[in-house]
Amino acid sequence: MNRREVIYISYICQNCNQFNMNKAILPLAIVLAAACGRTAYTSTSNELSFPKVDSLLKVMTLEEKVGQMVLFTADRAVTGPTLRKGYLEDIRAGRCGNIFNAYDADFTRKLQDVAVNETRLGIPLLFGYDVIHGFRTIFPINLGMSCSWDMDAIKESARIAASEAAAAGLHWTYSPMCDICVEPRWGRVSEGAGEDPYLGSLVSAALTRGYQGEDLAADSTLLACIKHYAAYGAPQGGRDYNTVDMSERWLREFYLPPYKAAVDAGALSVMASFNELDGIPATANKHLMQEILKGEWGFQGFVVTDYTGINEMVNHGYATDNADAGVLAANAGIDMDMQSASFMNYLVQAVNDGKVSVKTVDEAVRRVLNVKAALGLFDDPYRYCSEERQDARTMTEENLAAARRIAAGSMVLLKNDGILPLKKGTRVAVTGPLAASRDDLLGSWRGAGKVDQVPASVEDAIKEYNGAANVSPSAGVAVMVAGENCHWTGEAASRSDIRLPKDQTELLKKLKASGKKVVLVLMNGRPLDITEESALADAVLEAWYPGTMGGYAVSDVLFGEYNPSGKLSITFPRCLGQVPVYHYMKNTGRPYVHPEAKYESRYLDVPNEPLYAFGHGLSYTTFGYSDPQLSADGFSGDGSLQVKVTVTNTGSLEGTETVQMYIRDLVGSVTRPVKQLKGFERVTLAPGESREVTFTIDRETISFWRADMTWGPESGDFKVFTGGASDNVKEASFSYTI
Ligand code: NOJ
Repeated sequence: MNRREVIYISYICQNCNQFNMNKAILPLAIVLAAACGRTAYTSTSNELSFPKVDSLLKVMTLEEKVGQMVLFTADRAVTGPTLRKGYLEDIRAGRCGNIFNAYDADFTRKLQDVAVNETRLGIPLLFGYDVIHGFRTIFPINLGMSCSWDMDAIKESARIAASEAAAAGLHWTYSPMCDICVEPRWGRVSEGAGEDPYLGSLVSAALTRGYQGEDLAADSTLLACIKHYAAYGAPQGGRDYNTVDMSERWLREFYLPPYKAAVDAGALSVMASFNELDGIPATANKHLMQEILKGEWGFQGFVVTDYTGINEMVNHGYATDNADAGVLAANAGIDMDMQSASFMNYLVQAVNDGKVSVKTVDEAVRRVLNVKAALGLFDDPYRYCSEERQDARTMTEENLAAARRIAAGSMVLLKNDGILPLKKGTRVAVTGPLAASRDDLLGSWRGAGKVDQVPASVEDAIKEYNGAANVSPSAGVAVMVAGENCHWTGEAASRSDIRLPKDQTELLKKLKASGKKVVLVLMNGRPLDITEESALADAVLEAWYPGTMGGYAVSDVLFGEYNPSGKLSITFPRCLGQVPVYHYMKNTGRPYVHPEAKYESRYLDVPNEPLYAFGHGLSYTTFGYSDPQLSADGFSGDGSLQVKVTVTNTGSLEGTETVQMYIRDLVGSVTRPVKQLKGFERVTLAPGESREVTFTIDRETISFWRADMTWGPESGDFKVFTGGASDNVKEASFSYTI
């Protein structure tokens, strides 16, 4: 037995003495601790099974089992509408086996002490928190990070977040957020990876791997939670929590892939979304939870509701009361109740009344305990609480350097008339409502990030780099930092207007009228309608909310210390009237091809094309593309073909380009998008340097949900497009025979 096992056994022994524990339990608990301690769950393990969890289940009372299905907030952070003062008593009474919104080594240790030393079985608590884009070192918002198209960087951000959070006693993060979104009104578009299922899947897998690492029980990793399952990113009208309805085909093709990718990457928890889907709230949706998630995908972890999601089914008009809602949720495959207290208050009775089976409860508890075991909590319940590690690992120089680099890599240069990069020492005016703000740099869902730990606003950073004497309101170049107050994005922050506030547009006009060149730096969490401002400004840099080191990162990009390489992961519309507008739209029966035609699919007042297309993003250098060269005219069966494209840095600076590949299936048993992202590669090239990039197209690349709802390819003709943005590509053709 190792030291941790001995420690845990001593907890069990204390329990026995203190509470006169049934003697039969002691050996079981000891064996449980020893067995759990030896089995490490890795992201590549196929099976999550701890036989001694089954033994523990045999000695648990129904009340104790239900306690493991309950999750309450400890209110260190407030992330929902209800608070719960009695959570400590609930832990002590064995009614609550899981806590969220508690962090810091000392606080979590105190709570863990109660669970381990004051409950009959001493089962450790699981501590969860919203570590969304960093814990103390804050990275750019997730929408921003997805614009880096850099999976190593995204994974690194999650690894650092996990190492800081795990040292503060946390086991579990409510990330990755895998919600595909084509709706800029929705405030939570900021938390996801944008509009595309292919890119979104890579991002959700990278985040999962970054959090969970190779060994879930390591003291630097966190359990990931896939959310918000499913289709939360498609609320009608963009209003948060609103109704979602889409065909099964659309759901599977465009919305489910990122959740599935995170399951495949080993994530062991899933959060049900607030919304209904096809008339059934996700929280009671058997099709989503049992048939797809636990059935088709073989998910082995547990499913938690979102905040009060069970009780909200009464408002949905799907349950008569909170007790009924709990029954519906448990029977649909929900394993843990976040904050509704429905399981705590009514589930034992529901089992006694025969409305929920013991088997259902056992299955849920087994899933929860298996994950606790995989985290090593039976081995040492305190393994994650360490003041020393917390100090040593938090906001280190390395973490801050990574945050600065990742922030710069997430920014998208939308427009540049040649004013950027600025030369060091150029006199600039720094203005705009967000120029001096440190708060807004952090964005929403900022974990435990603190404003007073943000070293510099954009204005501070520019002064520091450029010399304060060179920053003056009378300068001929203005850097205007504008956008949205960070509280305008995130949860419950939908907007019906996606334009900049009027006073910002007026300021921009004034600056231009005074004869200045204007660089517009935007900080925001959604695609905005910046049609007017974009025409006025000489350059536009989309900086998102760039995090703790964001002030420096903006300065790095403006002055060319970092050559921008971000590409939009979501389309910027010309105006709200175009929404939804995204790159994988269908052709329709009347595509708009004749400028003067009336009966074609178009708007009378704006073009169909967005302001900035998916995949767009400029660099301080330029790139030239060859035509795509195919290795064959076509392929068949399980074969493949290669697409080669040569990219050349045609400018005078080293730069990184994201080479993108899109596909179109010309005729299908169901209609196909005119363009769909199917591959990309980032290449860094010196001036004049060329690189051949090769993409492989195989049956998976061209597979889709066919008319009979099976996943696979169809014979026929295809187009492949390669280029530096979805609206800037060259094409070739090939065929496929099944
Ligand atoms: C509600 C949010 O929808 C979810 O994303 C979050 O993880 C939980 N609250 C917990 O804070």
